[in-house]
Amino acid sequence: MSTDTASIDKDSVLTCTPIHPHFAARVEGMDFRKPLSDEQKAAVKAAMDKYAVVVFPGQTMDDDEQEAFARQFGEVEETPTLVDQSRRRLPNLKINDISNLGPDGEIWPADDRRRMFNLGNLLWHSDSSFKPTPAYWSMLQAKVIPPVGGETEFVDMRVAWEHLPEELKEEVIDLTAYHSLIYSRSQLGFDEFSPEEAERCKPVPQRLVRLHKESGRLSLYLSAHIGAIEGWSRPEAMALIRHLTEFATQREFVYSHEWSVGDLVIWDNRCTMHRGTRFADKTYPRDLRRVTLMDSAPTLEQPR
Ligand code: OGA
Ligand code: MN
Repeated sequence: MSTDTASIDKDSVLTCTPIHPHFAARVEGMDFRKPLSDEQKAAVKAAMDKYAVVVFPGQTMDDDEQEAFARQFGEVEETPTLVDQSRRRLPNLKINDISNLGPDGEIWPADDRRRMFNLGNLLWHSDSSFKPTPAYWSMLQAKVIPPVGGETEFVDMRVAWEHLPEELKEEVIDLTAYHSLIYSRSQLGFDEFSPEEAERCKPVPQRLVRLHKESGRLSLYLSAHIGAIEGWSRPEAMALIRHLTEFATQREFVYSHEWSVGDLVIWDNRCTMHRGTRFADKTYPRDLRRVTLMDSAPTLEQPR
C-alpha cells in the first residue's frame, strides 16, 4: 500500500499508511506514554481529520497514561456507565471498561445485566450520541483479545453522505433525530431500566447531517441510539434510519479491525460509526480500554 505524508509536512513526525479504499490509516512507531511535541499533536490531528480512523500499534499505556494521552487532545468524558456503576473493575473513572470481566477479573456470568447491556455495542453507533454534547474522539487500546472474533468495524459517514442519491440528501439534510440509550438497548430487547436510569436517558436532539469542519465535508450522523425524528411518525422515522444505516454500512464501505494486543485505535465519532462483532464471550476474556473526548457543543449549536 502507498504511504501518505501529504497532510503533514516534510519532516513529518508520522507516516500514514491507508488501510481501506475510502478512509482509515495505520501509523507505526509511535510511543504515546510521553507527552507529545506540538508537531506530533498537529500530525495526529491532521491524520485523524483526513482518515477518521487511525490505528497506532504497539502501545503499552496503562490506564493513567492513556488518560493523560487523551487530555492532550481535548476534554475527557466521565465514564457513562449507566448500569451498575458501583461494581467497577477499573479504578480510573475516565476509563471506559470495554471488557467482559467483573471486578474480580473473572468473565462475568452469562445472565449478568452488564453483559446484556454491553451487547448494545454490537449495533452500529457513534459513541455518546445520546448525550447533549456527544463524543469527539474515542481512543480504544487492546489489552487482551480472544483467539477468534471480536473485531471492531468502522464506516466513514462522510463517504456515506457523498454516495447518497441527491433526492435523499435533500430530503434528510435538515432533519433532527432523537437519541437515547433506551432506544438502542430496546432494539435488542433490553428494557430493564430503573426509573432513575430512565430519567437519565431522556432522548436528546441531534442533527442528522453534520459538517465535519476540519475536512469541510458533510457527514451523516447516525447511531443505534436514534429512536425518533422530529416531525415524523416513529415507523416512518425508523424505516428511514434503517435505510440510511444499511446504505452507510454496505460492505465496501466497512473497515474491519482485527485487533492485536497493544493496538490503540482512535476514531472520530463526529463522522464515523462503529460496532463490535460477536466472539465467544462466555469462554474467552476480551479486555479493551477506552477514553472518550467530548465534542465542543450539541450538534444543533454547531454550524452546518
Ligand atoms: C466502544 C465500542 C466495540 C468493540 O469501545 O465504543 O463500541 O468492538 N467497542 O468493543
Ligand atoms: Mn462504541
